[in-house]
Amino acid sequence: MAFEPKIIAFLCNWCSYAGGDLAGVNREQYPANVLSIKVMCSSRVSPEHIMESFMQGADGVLVTGCHPGDCHYIDGNYKTTRKIEVMHKIMEDFGIDPSRLRMDWISSAEGGKFARVMREMTEHVKELGPLDLKEEDE
Ligand code: FES
Repeated sequence: MAFEPKIIAFLCNWCSYAGGDLAGVNREQYPANVLSIKVMCSSRVSPEHIMESFMQGADGVLVTGCHPGDCHYIDGNYKTTRKIEVMHKIMEDFGIDPSRLRMDWISSAEGGKFARVMREMTEHVKELGPLDLKEEDE
């Protein structure tokens, strides 16, 4: 049976979640592999949330938010950028391919982009294969 990855997508309430709604209204197609979790701002996503997602069986994690300059909490998404950079380094140290964690900006008007990012992430993680924390740590 073909590998179907589990993807956790954290969506900021003001932009990306609304972008996902628009994708639905526009009947954009994207894989059902993605489990969405709404957060008020992308900066609400902590390193613990990301690591816990992987520990609980996610093969990939997406963090999405408002475009730079559009964050409803002024500079939340800039903080997210720095957090994700640190997370990529930590993941490398743990032997986890950093590309299993992706950050992207999706506005409420970008239903098409929302669907594309979900498709791209699912395809990318499919190519990487399942996350085996023991195996990747060796
Ligand atoms: Fe959307 Fe901060 S409110 S990234």
